[in-house]
Amino acid sequence: MASHTTNLHFVLFPLMAQGHMIPMVDMARILAQRGAMVTIITSPVNANRFRSVVDRAIEADLKIQILELQLPLAEVGLPEGCENFDLLPSSAHAVNMILAMNMLEEPAENMLKVLCPPPSCIISDGCFPWTNDVAKRLNIPRVVFYGPGCFAFLCVHIVTSTNILDEIDSDSEYFVMPGLPDQIEVTKPQASTWGRGDTKESTQVFERMVEAEKDALGIVVNSFEELEPKYVKELSKVKAKRVWCVGPVSLCNKSFQDRAERGNKIAINMQDCLKWLDAKESGSVIYVCLGSLSYASTEQAIELGLGLESSNIPFLWFIRQPSEEFEEWLFKEGYEERIKGKGLMVRGWAPQILILSHQAIGGFVTHCGWNSSLEGISAGIPMVTWPQFGEQFLNERFIINVLKIGVRIGMEVPVIFNKLDESKEIMKRDDIKQAIEGLMKNDEEGEARRKRCMEFAVMAKSAMEEGGSSQRNMTSMIQAIIEELAKKKTPV
Ligand SMILES: *[C@@H]1O[C@H](CO)[C@@H](O)[C@H](O)[C@H]1NC(C)=O
Ligand SMILES: *[C@@H]1O[C@H](CO)[C@@H](O)[C@H](O)[C@H]1NC(C)=O
Ligand SMILES: *[C@@H]1O[C@H](CO)[C@@H](O)[C@H](O)[C@H]1NC(C)=O
Repeated sequence: MASHTTNLHFVLFPLMAQGHMIPMVDMARILAQRGAMVTIITSPVNANRFRSVVDRAIEADLKIQILELQLPLAEVGLPEGCENFDLLPSSAHAVNMILAMNMLEEPAENMLKVLCPPPSCIISDGCFPWTNDVAKRLNIPRVVFYGPGCFAFLCVHIVTSTNILDEIDSDSEYFVMPGLPDQIEVTKPQASTWGRGDTKESTQVFERMVEAEKDALGIVVNSFEELEPKYVKELSKVKAKRVWCVGPVSLCNKSFQDRAERGNKIAINMQDCLKWLDAKESGSVIYVCLGSLSYASTEQAIELGLGLESSNIPFLWFIRQPSEEFEEWLFKEGYEERIKGKGLMVRGWAPQILILSHQAIGGFVTHCGWNSSLEGISAGIPMVTWPQFGEQFLNERFIINVLKIGVRIGMEVPVIFNKLDESKEIMKRDDIKQAIEGLMKNDEEGEARRKRCMEFAVMAKSAMEEGGSSQRNMTSMIQAIIEELAKKKTPV
């Protein structure tokens, strides 16, 4: 097996969004650890975010390289350097970003044509349907990767391949999602924030994605069999494709530095943050981080600040981009001074895996992005779910109703991605206090939740170990690619 893998050259195209890039880069490492050569193709700003992780992989004799392609930003009216969804001037610019990404088809193909050794497989984000056309022209198998896990992916499939949503009039009534192994209730807006969208462009992009997926050799998912066995099986059935669960990829063998630098440059001296946690009792602290794309309004940030302060739980709160008004409020109130000892507020990126695995952490307030959800699950930490948009409401259902390891904050209405700045639904400080205290309680329910969390964490770890299900699924994916290549080489 190993000797076969050594001859393979994987080319990875991660979507330029943090939650998609991180798992793809992890996957690159896993493939390289198997002896394969891996090329990651992305734009310069995104390449820089991973430069040091990749450099360390190279030092460890792994065959990974990053090749850069320039996004035609000016042509789509985006400012220079704006190469990731988290760098957009406003969420309304997401469409421009997608246009720019679509224009990479030709330069990418030219790059692949001269790549040496020639690529043996393309693993690309589902949001890059053009990679399928390139793969076909160059006669290379393509494996498709999607951000979410099998549960959310199956829900998306159900609502986008049928007309069940057309039959529902109310935007606030809950209905049972048909075709799922468990009884799951959602509202129409919660079920429809991912998929066709409501513009002509987004519908076209989505339909192209669905078409492109049909040609793929299979689907690779950052999840593990034991987490959602019924959903893996069902997804594979409805897609008529092999589904390889190879995660949680964040658990792949990494140095302390790698774990700390995952994603973006981190905010503060990590040592200070860890020292603060060291002084706290085991399982006593709630970690709050609402993700890379959550532009919380000032009003909401204030409520969250007051909610955290009024709860009796110590907290570590990462806020990525506080607005100016919020900074003013903090200053005027002397908030950071006031919470000293009990809470720590940090601006910027969180070294999330390090934090979640710290013994002091006992709970996680999350926006339910799949990347973060899976990191919480892997660390065995129960979650307060605070979804915002996209498939996050579906991930919330999964955490609450399927895994039963969380407490809802109570968000009802998704903020539509391109109208994010008009977000209206505000969680009040009392809702926040109640959810957090509810999650951290030591009652019977809380204990049962923690126990289930620990069980999933153990399963996650063993899935990634030698002989574990994710490790075997990776082998099975590599095997399928080798077989496909042999078929392509044999003239018919
Ligand atoms: C993904 O995880 C990293 C930590 O590993 C975190 O910093 C980042 O905010 C997460 N991104 C998303 C989109 O959830
Ligand atoms: C992780 O690294 C250690 C030490 O380098 C090694 O012994 C172990 O087998 C590795 N585990 C995996 C899953 O690759
Ligand atoms: C993934 O692993 C599970 C558990 O070992 C196995 O049942 C399943 O067939 C594998 N999936 C694929 C597509 O190889």
